[in-house]
Amino acid sequence: MEVLLRVRRYDPEATNPKPYWAEYTLNDVKRTDRVLDLLHHVKWYLDGTLTMRRSCAHGICGSDAMRINGVNMLACKVLVKDLVKGEKGRIEVAPILGLHVIKDLVVDMEPFFDHYRSVMPYFVNDTEPPTAERMQTAEQRAIFDEGTKCILCAACTTSCPSFWANDSYVGPAAIVQAHRFIFDSRDMAGNDRLAILSEENAVWRCRTIFNCTSACPREIPVTRLIADVKKAIAGTMEIPSTAAVAGD
Ligand code: SF4
Ligand code: F3S
Ligand code: FES
Repeated sequence: MEVLLRVRRYDPEATNPKPYWAEYTLNDVKRTDRVLDLLHHVKWYLDGTLTMRRSCAHGICGSDAMRINGVNMLACKVLVKDLVKGEKGRIEVAPILGLHVIKDLVVDMEPFFDHYRSVMPYFVNDTEPPTAERMQTAEQRAIFDEGTKCILCAACTTSCPSFWANDSYVGPAAIVQAHRFIFDSRDMAGNDRLAILSEENAVWRCRTIFNCTSACPREIPVTRLIADVKKAIAGTMEIPSTAAVAGD
């Protein structure tokens, strides 16, 4: 099949640096090719200056979130057949929104990771560890299981209109990461994270728009996890007791 691949490009070192659409007509595209395969074809055979991030090519590393036909997706997970129905079609690829474009499809992820770091995304427990492991029931684990699937791709945060309007908003990805520890029965810093997330540019900036949930390639119910954190701050949902943390 034939695909007209349109790629939003930008070279800060060009004589007249302005974003523009580059077009590549690709023949012999297989319906089962991924968008990443098409981008590789351009980079390897047509124009080696095309710049993008990718690593695992299997939906694990989270490095190739892009806006594909206007929707945030991982280029390595979306197949041509899901975007083009006939024997001929068009696919548009652009950088994710709300972050500064460095070159072509590469954005500056540092503000995203600053928000991530701000919510204490790590295990906190200063009690003496038990000789084996800190025990947890299947039910205790299930409460935060969904958040452990996050690969920090930023598809959620950069699809959120609240983030586009105010990039000081910590964003859904950071809240998912906070949820993963707030609701972990082995962790002791849940209240510290709730205090961080009740600040001006945190969880209350979420207006329940749901773009984040639609965009998540790991099918994490992002909006529901944000709602859990809102409820915990409002005192209508308990966070796990730290009483049993020591492994008893
Ligand atoms: Fe990506 Fe989903 Fe994690 Fe957001 S919650 S960063 S969309 S994996
Ligand atoms: Fe944004 Fe998702 Fe909330 S799209 S407004 S973080 S539900
Ligand atoms: Fe790793 Fe797509 S290249 S998630």
